[in-house]
Amino acid sequence: MTMLEKSRIVTMDKITALSKRRGFVFPGSDIYGGLANTWDYGPLGVELKRNVQHLWWRRFVHQRRDIIGLDAAILMNSRVWEASGHIEGFNDPLVDCRTCKSRFRADHLIEERLGQQVEGASPDEMSKIIREAGLKCPVCGNATLTDARQFNMMFRTVIGPLEETGTEVFLRPETAQAMFVQFKNILATGRVKVPFGIAQIGKVFRNEITPGNFIFRLLEFEQMEIEYFVKPDEAAEAFETWLIDMQAWLSEIGIRDEFVRLREHDADELSHYSSRTVDFEYQFPGAMGWRELYGLANRTDFDLTRHQAFSGEDLHYFDQAENRKYVPYVIEPTFGVDRTCLTLLIDAYDEEATVDVNGKPETRVVLRFHPRVAPYKAAVLPLLKKDELVHLAKRLFTNLNERSSVLIDYDETGNIGKRYRRQDEIGTPFCFTIDFDTIEDDTVTVRHRDDMSQERLPMNAVSEWLDERLT
Ligand code: GAP
Repeated sequence: MTMLEKSRIVTMDKITALSKRRGFVFPGSDIYGGLANTWDYGPLGVELKRNVQHLWWRRFVHQRRDIIGLDAAILMNSRVWEASGHIEGFNDPLVDCRTCKSRFRADHLIEERLGQQVEGASPDEMSKIIREAGLKCPVCGNATLTDARQFNMMFRTVIGPLEETGTEVFLRPETAQAMFVQFKNILATGRVKVPFGIAQIGKVFRNEITPGNFIFRLLEFEQMEIEYFVKPDEAAEAFETWLIDMQAWLSEIGIRDEFVRLREHDADELSHYSSRTVDFEYQFPGAMGWRELYGLANRTDFDLTRHQAFSGEDLHYFDQAENRKYVPYVIEPTFGVDRTCLTLLIDAYDEEATVDVNGKPETRVVLRFHPRVAPYKAAVLPLLKKDELVHLAKRLFTNLNERSSVLIDYDETGNIGKRYRRQDEIGTPFCFTIDFDTIEDDTVTVRHRDDMSQERLPMNAVSEWLDERLT
């Protein structure tokens, strides 16, 4: 553990508790005792998530002339998954306990118990390691683990009223495939020339056997993916450019680079479609440590070639400038939405020893979100719940709400110190407080979340002042 890691105050437990307490993320189906590893985004979580998606779309689709969007159906013809290799190859190695019937990821068990990295090893190799080390079931303690075997991670369902006669379909495990399947339609309508990209944001589903760590590994989650089509001999260069673009995205949303590193996949770890993959890893707190946040892969011409073979459609691209046809290579930057939200919460979390309004020592919890991602950009607070103050505060709130496209909070309950603490804990960068001086001179107090400093501002300058800080 590095010094930097040791000095971190944040823990996964604190993030999970704050998320529930303040309405970022709740356990799914909570009043029915929950459903393991499902989570619901609450009023603040949904704003954080939308900000992430909106910024991503703006940065990679609206602000670029070479990337266009798609929003495809989750259910696709099952031949898609044969062509993509997911039916054959999207597997996790599993072991069962014959005594208590618990089920585990073989690679995770070996990693946790023996500290050995075995990603990419075959089920036979993992079974041998488990047998030789005499590993026992982590739940019941018996040495009754089966050999490892492959388990397909796609969720299945049936279209039609009858299970027996219906069509079996899969819930998509990545958004990527629709962008290959619609390649031809997009070429025909999108007025694009290689190099160009297709971007999509959407839900995906994976029957993960060992989900967990809050919203880190989920059964259903969202991805923001780009399939970037390039000339085969320009793929290596495009890969390097995308590494830089992905780093720039992390800076835009305010993730500190000291907790991010790049990790090149070993050859035996690569997905079936990839010739090169680099993971962006984030250092999560405590035992989690360095884990994949995003990935960048060179998918070569694997997907288009396979879909061409399985569908019988010609998926070549005709390059007018070079007067030749080729199947483009694909560089794929992929971003998990939920992992982004989790990383933002962790990276922003801070605690500070301070004193309350009565001079009593207290700990201030503050989410130091970049204003771009903060759920509320500002809050309007009357100092006291007195008619003359409330009236002015509501007027300012309505004004800001009408003029601005960002979300503003309004709070008049409880003492001002407590209201500031709440805004700190949900990451609101600025508070505008209406007090008795406002009645006299039409100015408000601006209170800054990060250092709690305060300044006065004319009431009619607030909107512009806020715009300047957000753009
Ligand atoms: N199209 C390529 C692809 O799907 P992946 O590495 O399997 O690649 C992409 O997934 C991203 O999706 C990951 O980098 C991560 O951010 C997110 N992700 C993957 N599995 C997840 C899970 N079970 N729960 C939450 N996010 C996940």
